[in-house]
Amino acid sequence: MKIVISSAGRRAHYVEWFREALGRTALSGEVIAMEYRLHSPSTGLADRAVPSPAYNSPEYPEALREWCRAERPDLFLSLNDYELQILSGGLAEEMRSMGCRVAVLGAELQPIVLDKHRMATALAERGIPTPRTVLGSEVDRIRSSARSGDRFVVKHRFGSGSTGLRIVEAEALPDAVEQSAQTALGADGLPAADGPAATVVQEALPGPEYGVDGVFDVDGRGELLGVLARRKDLMRGGDTDVATTVAPEPFHAAIREIGAMLRPSAAIDVDLRDNADGEPQVIDINPRLGGGYPFCHRAGADLPAALIRSAVGLEPDPELLRYRVGVTSARREEFTVVAAPR
Ligand SMILES: Nc1ncnc2c1ncn2[C@@H]1O[C@H](COP(=O)(O)OP(=O)(O)O)[C@@H](O)[C@H]1O
Ligand SMILES: [Mg+2]
Repeated sequence: MKIVISSAGRRAHYVEWFREALGRTALSGEVIAMEYRLHSPSTGLADRAVPSPAYNSPEYPEALREWCRAERPDLFLSLNDYELQILSGGLAEEMRSMGCRVAVLGAELQPIVLDKHRMATALAERGIPTPRTVLGSEVDRIRSSARSGDRFVVKHRFGSGSTGLRIVEAEALPDAVEQSAQTALGADGLPAADGPAATVVQEALPGPEYGVDGVFDVDGRGELLGVLARRKDLMRGGDTDVATTVAPEPFHAAIREIGAMLRPSAAIDVDLRDNADGEPQVIDINPRLGGGYPFCHRAGADLPAALIRSAVGLEPDPELLRYRVGVTSARREEFTVVAAPR
């Protein structure tokens, strides 16, 4: 079994945990870190490190195709949103035709999760709870109906890692949109030309925030294997620093619906926040292994083992996705040797 984890970068724990999970099976195999930067910590932890051209370079598709043809990997997971975007065109289909499961959404679905405006519309159409969302260029629609004391979030429409985030009251919205727009990127990852329309405005949700993984089979059948959830207790620079595991049941319906909408494979990472009535609302979807899963891993879940089981074609084992509720974990820094003299 050859498992490729691409662009793991500092999320190198995934490489480690896939190796451990593979080691516990009777399968022979290897976990391969594919990286553009060969001094990324994941390369030091993998069975093998493979350099790849940058995913936004013209050489990337052919290099990946060539490598897959020669190596025939079984499972390909990327941790980078922009790389997923590039794979979700024809490239993932080509890799699948070579027998590799690629955890990427279909080409018509991937643009929905990249665009926070389209995503909010798609969620609302399916009746999945999500805050009212307008483009920054339509901010007057929200201002006209705002009551004093209402708070609003401005963020980048194609953002990640909390880029462009501002939380303000209605009268400050136009300025906040203008400021946020100055650093906004477009769908192509380049500075956005359309200013305010490259931001979105939402009502600010007052309740606690949750990170939730939906775990699905790796063949794109959309079979939900389990749901893993934690409350985010402390955030720093767009990453969760401290979180406490919570019961998954309150999120099952939303994750099931999102699964039916996106037909994901392997894992999706969903951010939700409670409204004033304590009802969780979906604010963000990343169709990949996310930054918050480690908090559930530390509480006993084994997502890598569940995905390996699925890749081998074995019946799902629900035990692998069970974890203790109420476990608080904190992020730390770690150091890994990535090169040394022979
Ligand atoms: N509607 C909202 N109400 C309250 N907080 C929000 C809202 N939208 C986003 N946030 C905060 O901003 C952070 C980043 O927003 P998010 O939509 O997850 O975008 P991304 O992670 O892609 O940058 C969230 O983790 C949350 O803390
Ligand atoms: Mg997010």
